[in-house]
Amino acid sequence: MSKNNNFKNGLIAWIGGKKLLRKTIAPLIPKDIKSYIEPFGGGAWVLFYKDKWAEHEVYNDLDGRLVNLFRIVKYHPKAFKDEIKYLLGSREMFFQFLKGQFITDIQRAVQFFFIVTRSFGGNCRTFGVAKRKQGGACRSQYTVLDKIDGIHERLDTVLIENRDFETLIKQYDHEGAFFYCDPPYSSGTGYETSSTKEFEHERLRDVLKNIKGRFLLSYDDSPKIRELYKDFEIIEVSRYNGINHRLDANVNKTYKELLIANYPIKRMRAEGNSDSVPV
Ligand SMILES: C[S@@+](CC[C@H](N)C(=O)[O-])C[C@H]1O[C@@H](n2cnc3c(N)ncnc32)[C@H](O)[C@@H]1O
Repeated sequence: MSKNNNFKNGLIAWIGGKKLLRKTIAPLIPKDIKSYIEPFGGGAWVLFYKDKWAEHEVYNDLDGRLVNLFRIVKYHPKAFKDEIKYLLGSREMFFQFLKGQFITDIQRAVQFFFIVTRSFGGNCRTFGVAKRKQGGACRSQYTVLDKIDGIHERLDTVLIENRDFETLIKQYDHEGAFFYCDPPYSSGTGYETSSTKEFEHERLRDVLKNIKGRFLLSYDDSPKIRELYKDFEIIEVSRYNGINHRLDANVNKTYKELLIANYPIKRMRAEGNSDSVPV
């Protein structure tokens, strides 16, 4: 089978997705790891940055819609493509799908994919129309079909889980384990998972401080997070605001983010292992 590299462009835009930061994060991931685990998988931009991070790889998210989507693309790519091929890029269909009426898991995956890719910035709420160039509701269906095959191949040996981070981290922890953790920001979220329960940042810190393996954590830069992780190595990085940047060439705003780890990331960065935008 010839290799399809289309997975490198990701499957979906996701709120807080690390599309713009993955080049910075990737060189800070140790090479001698036995397992690569993403407890907060989202759109899996870091996972998809590389052909394989480790022999054993796990994608996890508490949001069942994401998990169902990746499982369907992994196990039923053809059925997924057959369902999506003839969908209209229409406002009416968007709001019909938002009601969440589906019969099979394949239909559920297709409708969720449609809503994410047709909403503004992947927010799953507002119908995203593009004013200046191709995209939004009128994005091409053909590029999607090829992308599905790439993601399907990339996920071949990736285990897809749907658990709370604490259960997952404790289950997969061992000396050779590496966890790339990208939890909801400390400054509010907008995730389905936080509609019923606020994210517990202290609980995550308590779990991570006791693991046998290594972790790399990405967060917004806030006094609360700096205090919670004061015993760990912290580096600052910055990224452009993707959406504003695209809409107006004059808006060149950057945001500071933190990378936190229980291994020497400062040394790795100094040795040239990271190409982050300097702050
Ligand atoms: C910042 S996003 C991850 C983005 C991802 N790194 C990417 O590149 O697309 C955070 C994710 O954490 C998930 N989440 C929230 N609470 C969780 C929990 N208790 N356990 C596992 N996942 C959770 C959300 O559903 C969301 O998809």
